Amino acid sequence: MKALVLSGGAGTRLRPFSYSMPKQLIPIVNKPVLEYALENIAALGVTEVGLIVGDRADQITEALGDGSRFGVRITAIHQDEPRGLAQCVELARTFLGDEDFVMYLGDNMLPDGIAGIAEEFRAHRPAAQIVVSKVPDPRAFGVAELDADGAVVALEEKPRNPRSDLAMIGVYFFTSAVHRAVRAIEPSARGELEITDAIQWLLDHGHEVKAGEYSGYWKDTGRADDVLECNRHLLATLVPRVDGQVDAASELVGPVVVEAGARVFRSRIVGPVVIGADTLVEDSRIGPDTSVGRDCVLRSTRLTDSIVMAGASITHVPGLHGSLIGRSARIGPSDHAEAHSRLVVGDHTHVEVAA
Ligand code: G1P
Repeated sequence: MKALVLSGGAGTRLRPFSYSMPKQLIPIVNKPVLEYALENIAALGVTEVGLIVGDRADQITEALGDGSRFGVRITAIHQDEPRGLAQCVELARTFLGDEDFVMYLGDNMLPDGIAGIAEEFRAHRPAAQIVVSKVPDPRAFGVAELDADGAVVALEEKPRNPRSDLAMIGVYFFTSAVHRAVRAIEPSARGELEITDAIQWLLDHGHEVKAGEYSGYWKDTGRADDVLECNRHLLATLVPRVDGQVDAASELVGPVVVEAGARVFRSRIVGPVVIGADTLVEDSRIGPDTSVGRDCVLRSTRLTDSIVMAGASITHVPGLHGSLIGRSARIGPSDHAEAHSRLVVGDHTHVEVAA
C-alpha cells in the first residue's frame, strides 16, 4: 500500500495567517500537523508517500526532508493550482500505479491513529473505505448518508441541507478502481474535482464503498479555533518534564514541560503548558492550554489558550488569549494593564497592542 498526502491547499479559512506559512506546518504542541499525518502513515507499515504540494512546496519539503526521519520515502508531486482532491489523485497516477493507497488530507488531525481503519480496509478491500464522524454543523464537510446496516447510500460535498450529521474525515482508502472514477467526474459548482463525487461515482457504478464511524479524536484544522481546540486536546495528556532552567522565584503548577535550554524567571506557569527549547520567559504568567515554540521571548506577559511559534517575542502584553502567533512575530507593548486581546498573527509580523 502507498500513501498520498495532500498539502497543496491555500488554507483560505486561515487567512491572513496562511499567507505566511502553509497551514499544514502549524505546530500543535510544538509539532507540525503534517508530522502527525506522516507518523500515522508510517505506523501502518507504509513506506512510499506521495506528497501533493502547491506554491508552498519549498517550506513543506524543507520541514519534512526526504521522510527518512519518519521511516518513509517522500515523493513530492506538484499541483499548480488547487483544483480539488480528486485532481490530486489524477496528478499522482504515475506515482500510485495500480496499488491500493491511503489518501490523507494534510490538515486533518487524528492523534489516535488510523490503524483500525486500515485493518478494516485490508480485510475486505472495498473500492473505497471512508471514515465518518458526527459533527454539529455538517455543511462545512463532505456528508455521508448511511442505511440502517451502515452501508453508504449517498455522499454530498458541503450540502446546504445535510441528510445526516456524519462528516467525512479526510482519510480515505482506495483500490485502483478510483482512477476511473476521478477521470469520469466533472468539476463541482466551486470548480473543483471533488473526491466525494468520485466516491459517489463508485457507488453509482456498483463498486463497494464502506464507511465506518471513527471512535477517536478528529479535527480538521482549517480554522484558528480548530487549531487551538486541537492543541488543548493534545495538551490534556501532557507529561510534565523540566529539562531547562526554572528559578526559585518561579512557580510551575500542573503539567508543564520546559524544554532543554529554556529559562523561566520570576514567572508563574499553569499547565498544561509547553515551553520550547531555548525560550526565555520572564516576569510572565503563562497558561493554561498554551504551547510556546523554541527560541521565543515572553517578557511581562500574560498568555493563555494560545500557540506561539518559534522565534516569536511577546513583551509587556498583559492579556493575550486564544491567539495564534506566527514564527518570529513581535508583539508588544501595551500601556493598558487590563486589556484582553485575541490575535492571529502571521510570520515576521510586528504588532503593537493597545486598548
Ligand atoms: C475536505 C473534503 C470534505 C471533508 C473534509 C475533511 O474539505 O472536501 O469532504 O469532509 O476535507 O477535513 P475541505 O477541508 O477541503 O473544505
